[in-house]
Amino acid sequence: MGEEMREAMPDAAALGLARGLPLPELKRLPLERKDGALQGCLNAAAVSLPLLPGKSATAFWAYNDSVPGPAIELSEGETLALRFDNRLPQPTTVHWHGLPIPADQDGNPHDPVQPGQGRDYRFTLPAGSAGSYWYHPHPHGHTAEQVYRGLAGVFVVRSGDDPLAHLPERWLVLSDLKLDEDGKIAANSDADKMDGREGQFVLVNGAWQPKLALGIGERQRWRIWNATSARVLKLALPAHEVWLVGTDGGLIEKPRRVESLVLPPGARAELAVTGRFAAGKPAGLVALPYARGKMMGPEQDKALPLLDIEAGSAVVTASLPASLRRIDPLPKPSVTRRVVFSEDMANPAAMFLINGKTFDMDRMDFTGKVGAVEEWEVDNRADMDHPFHLHGTQFQVTERHDGKGWRREPYLAWRDVVNVPPAQKVRLRFRQDMPGPRMFHCHILEHEDAGMMGTLDVR
Ligand code: C2O
Ligand code: CU
Repeated sequence: MGEEMREAMPDAAALGLARGLPLPELKRLPLERKDGALQGCLNAAAVSLPLLPGKSATAFWAYNDSVPGPAIELSEGETLALRFDNRLPQPTTVHWHGLPIPADQDGNPHDPVQPGQGRDYRFTLPAGSAGSYWYHPHPHGHTAEQVYRGLAGVFVVRSGDDPLAHLPERWLVLSDLKLDEDGKIAANSDADKMDGREGQFVLVNGAWQPKLALGIGERQRWRIWNATSARVLKLALPAHEVWLVGTDGGLIEKPRRVESLVLPPGARAELAVTGRFAAGKPAGLVALPYARGKMMGPEQDKALPLLDIEAGSAVVTASLPASLRRIDPLPKPSVTRRVVFSEDMANPAAMFLINGKTFDMDRMDFTGKVGAVEEWEVDNRADMDHPFHLHGTQFQVTERHDGKGWRREPYLAWRDVVNVPPAQKVRLRFRQDMPGPRMFHCHILEHEDAGMMGTLDVR
């Protein structure tokens, strides 16, 4: 496949978009302790934000008027009670991506909030859930549009006993922005619908190639969210020392030295980054070239600068504990299932399929049991990468098949997204601790909207 189609998109110079601004701090959602919960209000509404100098403001859809949405931070054991109001012209939901919370509070497509309506979301964060999560809309058929118009925010769960609490933290939300000549958010092209949307700009906390200060020898803890619709970001900090310390569902057992890290759409990572400023290497955070099997658009063939890093003064390097947390491997599964991704390019109405089917709200694809360990084999027989995501719990990848043979996963980690390239397979284990319907889908949001999604009914 792949007759390349390069869409004409105005560049930063044409739009006057500035780079190199200081990394914006994320706004926080104000929470008030009342009736045994932390209470807050969230709305989704159209808002115009000044983005481009000398142009009229860009119309976004935003949570509480901010892009990204306000960050929510709680501790294990705490309860969030949130009033949500939908002021959008479309039905929406608030999905709490990755959090182990009851199905009826999880904002799945079965529970839409109609325009002009509201609802309360309430859930308690269980012990062991410390990690980096996010929230975004999940109405069937409109998820991609609502996210690319600006609806997404981060959710951090803290533990009282955090071995990295001594490191200064930076939170980086990576999102994708596609603008037309007037500086308006462009609609999805045919290539976007097929490949998943990519714009001209990857933003960090809503800014294009902003700048962060890192002392020489300073060790910082970075939480990174891939909130783009479709980009597989192969992240690297060529001039610095980088250890992977956490994944979607919190810390891993031991820090792992990494040269680069593939972060698929929807996924998160925690890194311990030490400022080394190695001579002759780019000082910033970049996304290295990565080909994801696109059908229509060109592949990313150059390193993409995401964030500049400025050298601060020299400081004493903080220690990195040798062991971070214990993760018990999930025991042998009592159920095994297969999930096959495929594409049917001859059928525009149902192009992206799971086990040969397109999503149907009224069909339960699998029935599972509360507390049972399941093992799923996710088999990508399509031509593009498809990042697999499951709601309601975190999973452990046990093995990957690269087309030649199975390879054991080298370390234990809690994840809720795993990228599956074409002709590859992944085996993963999980347990669902609460009943109700749980979605599983490709986290390229255009593919999800097009039907690459199913439901596991847990009873
Ligand atoms: Cu991040 Cu089903 O979604
Ligand atoms: Cu996909």
